[in-house]
Amino acid sequence: MSGDVLITGASSGIGKQLALDYANAGSTVIACGQSEERLAALSQQNDNIRTLAFDVTDLAATQCAFDALSPLPKLIILNAGTCEYIEHGQIDSALFKRVFDVNLFGLLHCLEAMQDRFDDQTHLTFVGSTASYVPLPRAEAYGASKAALSYLAQTLSIDLAPRGVTVTLVSPGFVKTPLTDKNDFPMPMIVTPEVASEAIRTGIARKEKEVHFPKKFSLILKTISLLPLSIQQSVIRKMTGKAA
Ligand SMILES: NC(=O)c1ccc[n+]([C@@H]2O[C@H](COP(=O)([O-])OP(=O)(O)OC[C@H]3O[C@@H](n4cnc5c(N)ncnc54)[C@H](OP(=O)(O)O)[C@@H]3O)[C@@H](O)[C@H]2O)c1
Repeated sequence: MSGDVLITGASSGIGKQLALDYANAGSTVIACGQSEERLAALSQQNDNIRTLAFDVTDLAATQCAFDALSPLPKLIILNAGTCEYIEHGQIDSALFKRVFDVNLFGLLHCLEAMQDRFDDQTHLTFVGSTASYVPLPRAEAYGASKAALSYLAQTLSIDLAPRGVTVTLVSPGFVKTPLTDKNDFPMPMIVTPEVASEAIRTGIARKEKEVHFPKKFSLILKTISLLPLSIQQSVIRKMTGKAA
């Protein structure tokens, strides 16, 4: 199987919109996800979309799926992710493991399965989150997994540069998808998957190191992250209604 763009987490939300937009623009897309049913429905929407169903938490399954790719797509968007919140600061290591297994180790499995075939045309894109910018209540597991992903993207960008491999880190604010439909709190400045896809594709086309959106929201969080931690935490408590 061959394609121009590989997208994990393409059976839903942001990844699905990216798959449709790249396919509508004429690129051949390898859309990955777990749900064969949703992937089949997606491929029926555009002949440019081919599908690969596997679980990114399973290294052997991930390796097997990517071994079917020849050649490796030049653009690889590692977007598969999940979100679970903890309650009242109660640590639940099983929950952390579930979140890290998809958001960090799933992404690492994809990289490990493909890395020997990267060349100087390979462009990697990691979908992180603005949640990694500041400490957000209940997001201990999700935010930590995305902070790890952010560090990984920034470091790999340096280490892979001699091979000509480029890396873009994407940090979305809130996007309306099945992932955020589960949230039970206000989501300021939430955008549609269409807006998210446009921002991501524009950033990738420019080979930007970092793509974050919506700008007003992400820049507010970036600014807060520059403040002393005690002030950051006080501002975040007020913003999220968690004032002591
Ligand atoms: N929505 C937001 O506000 C927001 C904000 C910041 C960052 N993000 C990040 O953006 C990415 C996409 O999120 P989304 O909002 O589009 O979520 P979504 O609609 O829930 O889609 C998540 C995608 O990840 C796939 N996935 C999850 N676990 C997987 C696994 N074990 N193996 C393979 N695929 C797996 C899902 O496939 P199946 O459904 O087939 O299992 C689905 O295609 C995530 O990394 C998320 O953290 C989202």
